[in-house]
This record gives sequence, structure tokens and C-alpha cells, in this order.
Amino acid sequence: MALTLDINCMMADRIGGYGISRAQVEALKRRLERGRTRLYSLDAGPKADRIAAGEEWLALPDQDKALIRRIIEVGKAFAESFEDVIILGIGGSFLGAQMLMEALASPHYNEFHQARKNRARVHFEGNNMSPDSLYTLLQNCNPSKTGVIVISKSGETTETKAAFLILKDWLRKAPGLGRLGDHIVAITDPAKGELRAEVNAEGYTAFEVPEGVGGRWSVLSPVGLLPAAVLGIEVEALLAGMARAKEACLRDDLWQNPALLMAALQYLHATLKNVNVEMVMPFDGQLFGLSRWYQQLLAESLGKKFDLDGKVVNVGRTPVALVGTSDLHSVHQLDAEGPHDKTVTFVTVKEFAGDLVINDPAGSFLHGKKLSEAQLAARLGTEYSLSVEGRPSANYIIDRRDAAHLGELLGVMMFAVTYEGDLLGVNSKDQPGVEVYKHAMYGQLGKPGFEAIAEKLRAVASDPKYLITV
Ligand code: PA5
Repeated sequence: MALTLDINCMMADRIGGYGISRAQVEALKRRLERGRTRLYSLDAGPKADRIAAGEEWLALPDQDKALIRRIIEVGKAFAESFEDVIILGIGGSFLGAQMLMEALASPHYNEFHQARKNRARVHFEGNNMSPDSLYTLLQNCNPSKTGVIVISKSGETTETKAAFLILKDWLRKAPGLGRLGDHIVAITDPAKGELRAEVNAEGYTAFEVPEGVGGRWSVLSPVGLLPAAVLGIEVEALLAGMARAKEACLRDDLWQNPALLMAALQYLHATLKNVNVEMVMPFDGQLFGLSRWYQQLLAESLGKKFDLDGKVVNVGRTPVALVGTSDLHSVHQLDAEGPHDKTVTFVTVKEFAGDLVINDPAGSFLHGKKLSEAQLAARLGTEYSLSVEGRPSANYIIDRRDAAHLGELLGVMMFAVTYEGDLLGVNSKDQPGVEVYKHAMYGQLGKPGFEAIAEKLRAVASDPKYLITV
């Protein structure tokens, strides 16, 4: 198996003046090495230091084997006991698990019995507070045959809490339901929060979001692994992939370290060329979830007002989640000819289990080609059309879209964002801007303790002066 990172089209040798030179990367070497040594020492050092730094995600490949066995057992039992499993969460407690389903479960999983080997259908909900969506789902599921996995690290997030309350109510009202707790598994903080208190009071089956692992860094903890186990995804292979990524991303040879190079190149494009947008474009419909997962990882980790010294810096690059080939017909025109403010990150998959050959009795140029060949031609064409306009792009290439390769890719991306955070001098593990909205929302909904922020929110509520009604 292999994951290869191709950075040719990020470099000046290939795309000219908009690219980065080898010397510019070399000039960052000392600062990159500082970031690498920090992670290397944390990885080799005591768990308490990793937790304090919020870098316990580094230890996820080495999770306790007994825990992994239990995740697999509980996931399988859930999938086999129910017709439907509804997974509730938001942000880092949602996007990773949803991505794993899209990328690794059989395509059209919920539609086809055969494809999911008679396991439960799996639905992701609670992430948008969309009444119609949850209503329709509940209309079409049988509560007696539905399991719920509720995921919230804080155990307090309003979106998840609201959906969970609705689901518990729906389950309770089902005639002959049996024990409510048999339908619920919770994943939350080991000690803190309302959900943990409820787990303790009600005795639900529960898993922990490990201490020191933030939401968007938790996909390879029980947060992503339990949903993966429900779907029959090989969770051990995901972890083995992440272990391989860790080895590569802690290497001291800069030119052989994919995460250091990606961090360096993105940082240099942003700081030297004012290129602050990253279009993420995997070439495979089933990897659109990866774009959305990475979008959160980059945006929440690096979009910061303050640096580590408390100075106002207002940094961060803007990720845009796309997918090829469809977004070539929506966004690519802008990438190729719009402002010089974007890099494009491709993901290319080399082999597909279900590849198909195109037969054209009229003998057109497509006749005899595999669908994957046509897809690859589109990606190569895209890269070419960008490079002739001096537009930078990078390409992650994986042999197959399987658990081992995906685990590896996620690992490299997490290392790269961490290293870029170190270059920017920001805390890539917090999200203070998100907390402000959460608190204002609590205030608006009347949660005790948030009266002051509710007052401020009301003071700036819509001014009729600028309301335009059609
Ligand atoms: O990455 C993060 O920390 C956030 O996106 C959280 O995952 C998100 O806000 C949900 O929080 P919680 O898991 O506490 O419900």
C-alpha cells in the first residue's frame, strides 16, 4: 500500500513565479524542525504532557486493544440488533464519522441490503437542527427497531442535545420498547458534562472521547471508530494507516516528510504570495466527506484572532470543500482564471474495486476505456489547466479507497495542519470563536448562566432600518 504526495505543481520550477522555490522552503527549515521536535517529544513523552498540549491525538494509533475489541463488538451488535441506527453529533463529533461512511462503506449503503450484509441502515442527524429532515427520518423508522449513538465531547452542545431529547421522547412513546438504555450508546467526555452525568445516572453503554483529543482531531477515537464498526469498516486498518502516517510525518528529513512539506508550502503561499484559499478537490464522489472533514480541520484549527503570545494576528486560510469531477463544472473556471489567491489540493485514487469498462458500439474515443481512466484524465486535465495559468496544486495519491489508505491520509492531514499552526504561532487545538456563538445561543434559548450575553445579543438584533421586504 502507498500514499504519495506530489508537490511538483506547488513549486516555481513547474509553475513559475506563482510557485515556491526550494530555497524558500529550505529557509523555513529551522522553524519546521522546531514544530517537528515538539511533536516528536510529545509523542515519546508522558501522556500528561500530550493531554496538557491538546496533542493526545498522536497516541490514537496505540489505543488499548481491549477498547478496540469492545468498539467492534458493540458496533456489530448494534448493527445486527436494529433496522436503523441514528448517529447524532455536530462538527468534530460528526464530520469524521460521516466521512468514514461515505468513503469506506459500500456505496448506496442504505439502499441495498446486499451491500450492507443485512446490517442496520445508518443515518446522520442532529447537525443542522433541520426540523423537516429529522421529522421525515422518524416517520420512516420503527422506534422499537432503532438504535441511537449520541456523540458530544462537551455533552452540552445544543444541536446534539435537542436532537437527542427528541429521539428519547420518540423512543419512550413506542409501545413495548423495553429498556430505553438498550437503544442508546453515548460517546462523551470521561468525566465532565451533562451527557456524562446522564450516562452515569441511566447506565447507558458509553465510550470516552479521550482527554486531550479535541473534536476535529477525534475521528480515529471512539467518535469515528464506533460508527465505523456499525458500518463494518475495518477499524484496525484505519489505525494502522494512521500509525504509518505518524512514522512519515515525524521523519527528520524535510524533503521526505509529507506533512512538513505541505505545511511549509501552504504557509509560504499564504505569507509570500497572498494565496489564502485552499480548494480541496478529491477525484471521487465518495471522498466529498473528506473535503468537508478537512474543511473543518483547517478552518477551526488555524483561523485565529490571537497568537500564542496573545497578540492579535487574525490568521487562517479559507478551505473550500469540493469534489471532482462535478465541481469542474461549477467552480473550476474561478480556480483557473479568477484571482491568484488559491491552491488546489487533489486526492487521486488509483484502483477501484468496481471499475467499469465503457463500451461504445459507435467506436468513439471512450470505447474500451475504464471509467477510472476517464476520471484520471479529468484530474490530469485539471492539474494541467491550472499549471499553465501558474496556479499551484498538490496531489495526494492513494492506491485504493480503503481503511488503511484513508487512515494514512487523515494522519498526514492532521500532522500538516498542526505543523502549519506551529509556523503561524497559534493554538491549533482550540476554537474560542465557536464557543462565543454557543454561549450566545444558550442565552437566546434561556439557559441559566447566559443572561448577560443574551442581553447583548438582543441589543444588536435586527434593525428595521435595513430590512428589505420583497
Ligand atoms: O472541533 C471541535 O471541537 C468542534 O467542532 C466540536 O466538535 C463541535 O463544536 C461539537 O462539540 P461537542 O462534541 O462538544 O458536542
